[in-house]
Amino acid sequence: MDKRRRQLLTLSTFATLGAASVSLGCSSMISNSQTKSVMGLKTPALDTVRIGFIGVGQRGSGHVKHCCHIEGVEIVAICDTHLPSLKKAIDSVVSAGLNAPQAYSGAEDAYLEMLSRHDIDIVIISTPWRWHAPMAIATMEHGKHAFVEVPLALTVAECWQIVDTAERTQKHCMMMENVNYGRDELMVLNMVRQGLFGELLHGEAAYIHELRWQMKELTESTGSWRTPWHSKRNGNLYPTHGLGPVSQYMNINRGDRFDYLTSMSSPALGRQMYAAREFPKEHMRNQARYINGDINTSLIKTIKGKTIMVQHDTTTPRPYSRHNLIQGTNGVFAGFPNRIALEQGGRESFHQWDYDMQPWYDKFDHPLWQHMGSEAERNGGHGGMDFLMLWRMVYCLRHGEPLDQDVYDGASWSVISPLSSLSLEHRSQSVDIPDFTRGAWAKAEPLGIVKPS
Ligand SMILES: NC(=O)c1ccc[n+]([C@@H]2O[C@H](COP(=O)([O-])OP(=O)(O)OC[C@H]3O[C@@H](n4cnc5c(N)ncnc54)[C@H](O)[C@@H]3O)[C@@H](O)[C@H]2O)c1
Repeated sequence: MDKRRRQLLTLSTFATLGAASVSLGCSSMISNSQTKSVMGLKTPALDTVRIGFIGVGQRGSGHVKHCCHIEGVEIVAICDTHLPSLKKAIDSVVSAGLNAPQAYSGAEDAYLEMLSRHDIDIVIISTPWRWHAPMAIATMEHGKHAFVEVPLALTVAECWQIVDTAERTQKHCMMMENVNYGRDELMVLNMVRQGLFGELLHGEAAYIHELRWQMKELTESTGSWRTPWHSKRNGNLYPTHGLGPVSQYMNINRGDRFDYLTSMSSPALGRQMYAAREFPKEHMRNQARYINGDINTSLIKTIKGKTIMVQHDTTTPRPYSRHNLIQGTNGVFAGFPNRIALEQGGRESFHQWDYDMQPWYDKFDHPLWQHMGSEAERNGGHGGMDFLMLWRMVYCLRHGEPLDQDVYDGASWSVISPLSSLSLEHRSQSVDIPDFTRGAWAKAEPLGIVKPS
């Protein structure tokens, strides 16, 4: 069945099922924008990267600290509505021996005042999810590059608005998927590019991280705004950490792209049980109804036929995992714990996992990690990936090079959340995934194995 007929079928199927899904389905297919692509966008090299921050809680405060140790960076201003967090972040800049950045606070839209400054090049946004899209759009509208925490946006419409704005303003908008800068993920990308696994067939990605304890954060910090999402949406609430690396292995948006997905959720039991165990009967955490299935499993099909399983589970008691599995015609790498199995020289060496990674690191460590890995590990942040991501962003901006992740990646990886929800509302029917690149994926070059000088 040709693609257009299948889309119409999908839409008409949804039309019989409810008006809300029709509009979501429609907005996922259609974009009228006549703007210029930002695929491979290069912007004039910056001598110094002058940064403004919005949101310096658990996550943003780490970005501020790392940026104090990156050459060619100036921290100009910081905005946060929570004064103690704002003060702490400013103090961390001063104690690193740098000038105190200008503070912005006092209202939910105080960030707009910061954005009206003319001495900021990029804005790093680490606020609760609902702010990501409006803040990223406002940042670009004010002539600055936007760097946004994960996920980039919450709805299909927001994803398109961000893409449209990036194209109209010709500004960078990168979702800061730090996991793409982990040593293992970089090594696997390098292995994939060298053909170690043969032709890629299938990937597995996940965010499996027990976070019930965050329900105890009631008025501030991550759990205060993240917990209510478990009462608002059933689906994959946080798809990008596992999906980002697998997408880069598979050249998503650069030679292949996501075509459609189908999604299922398990029963939602764990958070209600945790609330009953940990809070008094009348407590707000016991008043809430948690609808998000404890384990969500989505399957993505790419235009070139590859498959990706994406899971989300922040509720059940089990060890952390992002799966990080990539299977090709010649073998497989899997993470958590790292292991590899290959058919080598026709031998059936693939029946046993090889858990000893050191020889593989010696041979396949990514040049970026070879260049900056020890510095990244010294500065820390999820084993160095956070520092390396920030360092690489600054490097690209100072050299006028395209970023490793663009607005199309951020939109494609983030849109899995609302689309997983839409699919499972309709007995897991398949849902088309928008082509945010508007066709540019077919000719785009795969992300290279970058070698910084
Ligand atoms: N990439 C990663 O590994 C990673 C890890 C943790 C969190 N995150 C992401 O980082 C983001 C922030 O998470 P967090 O854990 O730091 O949350 P947090 O609640 O600790 O911090 C959010 C901060 O934003 C501030 N804020 C809220 N609304 C604001 C507004 N209108 N203007 C200015 N400031 C505002 C809050 O006061 C708070 O200080 C989330 O999107 C989350 O998904 C990513």
